Amino acid sequence: MTMTLPSALDAEQNVDKNMKISVVGLGYVGLPLAVALSRQFNVIGFDISKDRVSELEAGHDRTMEIDPPVLRASTVTYTTDIAQTAEADLHIVTVPTPVDEGNKPDLKPLESACKAIAPIMKKGSIVVVESTVYPGVTEDVCGPILEAGSGLVCGQDFYLGYSPERINPGDRVHTVDKIIKVIAGQTEQVADILEVVYGAATTGGTFRARNIKTAEAAKVIENAQRDINIAFINEATMIFQKLGISAYDVLETAGTKWNFLNFTPGLVGGHCIGIDPFYLAHRATEVGHDPDLILTGRRINESMAGFIANSVGSRIPAGSKILVLGLTFKENVPDLRNTKITEIVSGLQELGHSVDVHDPLADKAEAQQFFGIDLIGTLANLQGYDAIVGAVAHSVYKELSDVALESIIKPGGLIADVKGIWRGRELSEATKRWQL
Ligand SMILES: NC(=O)c1ccc[n+]([C@@H]2O[C@H](COP(=O)([O-])OP(=O)(O)OC[C@H]3O[C@@H](n4cnc5c(N)ncnc54)[C@H](O)[C@@H]3O)[C@@H](O)[C@H]2O)c1
Repeated sequence: MTMTLPSALDAEQNVDKNMKISVVGLGYVGLPLAVALSRQFNVIGFDISKDRVSELEAGHDRTMEIDPPVLRASTVTYTTDIAQTAEADLHIVTVPTPVDEGNKPDLKPLESACKAIAPIMKKGSIVVVESTVYPGVTEDVCGPILEAGSGLVCGQDFYLGYSPERINPGDRVHTVDKIIKVIAGQTEQVADILEVVYGAATTGGTFRARNIKTAEAAKVIENAQRDINIAFINEATMIFQKLGISAYDVLETAGTKWNFLNFTPGLVGGHCIGIDPFYLAHRATEVGHDPDLILTGRRINESMAGFIANSVGSRIPAGSKILVLGLTFKENVPDLRNTKITEIVSGLQELGHSVDVHDPLADKAEAQQFFGIDLIGTLANLQGYDAIVGAVAHSVYKELSDVALESIIKPGGLIADVKGIWRGRELSEATKRWQL
């Protein structure tokens, strides 16, 4: 018997505004998606974090992805009670997919989300995974958990889909409502429905992948490819440092060639680029392939923080006082997950220096709780440092005047520019400079 699937279209073939969608996991990915879908559909957002749900109900998004007026105007309702999502025709799962201490995929949040959905999902519903996973997770891990917990048969009583998320924290151009959304369904009819649903939420259109595993694989190589390209630039940067050449000068020069790829050196932190290659590597190993290039890229990028700490720390006298500017994993976001700046800080401390850290975007309590770092509150009146390390390219640091920069350090101090944000500055001759 073929199950009746929900229709994303009404009797007049318009998007069916009565279709009910639940978004499970309201973080960087889930919240913007829920808000975008709510412009067309009836959306309920579920999260296990009571704090997150209360903040969202109060119109506050701590990830800064959705502006308060937009959040307040949205029709999304929020809950920490999964039973409230039981009427959903479509459950979209956007929970974290981290790695464990051994860099192996940690599927516990995804498994636990599926276990929560299983007993409440109704017959004929579709469960779409958006979390980044290795090929096979949706069908071989989520499907069986949903079956076991619901007593329903996958592909007959309920269906699976996969739609990878491509958003980039802090990127106000490539937002979820504008980018091409890849979709894949367990059946053609499921893919038809997802095409309508996601097509209604983005002006970028949809791309129908051949099947679920193809869509899972496409997402994971999008990020692994970036990691490997950055690793190449980081390796070249280390070579150029030994040769006394600036990587930024080299890249500016090589970048004049029409097909030179635009990657810059630096730290690879955050929840995606530094994590997802391990997902692909894990699956590769399971099927008997040694993922040499993928893991070499990871190793090079992981070594970058230590390289920077040593490069800066060895240029100043022992026991120097250093101010590190920036703690988040990338510019203009408050996201501290998997930030590598902490390794620069500990590397400098191990060399015997004392280090203060400033970051106006990072949450002070989180910095203390996760890293034991007491963030400096303001840059005003700071002075007497032996060195400044420009570690994150927050706009506020790019905009610091020459005078402001130099007033923080002692005469003859060092300005270390990890991100190349102060390259063009004409500083006094006494000021020492270092850049990648
Ligand atoms: N952050 C990005 O820019 C980005 C981009 C593309 C893809 N992704 C992928 O999207 C997924 C989600 O990432 P994120 O950055 O939004 O994570 P996040 O940490 O910002 O948010 C995850 C949310 O899920 C909640 N959660 C955790 N376990 C849950 C559970 N069992 N049930 C319900 N809610 C639960 C958390 O409380 C949190 O609010 C990951 O797989 C990630 O790799 C992230």
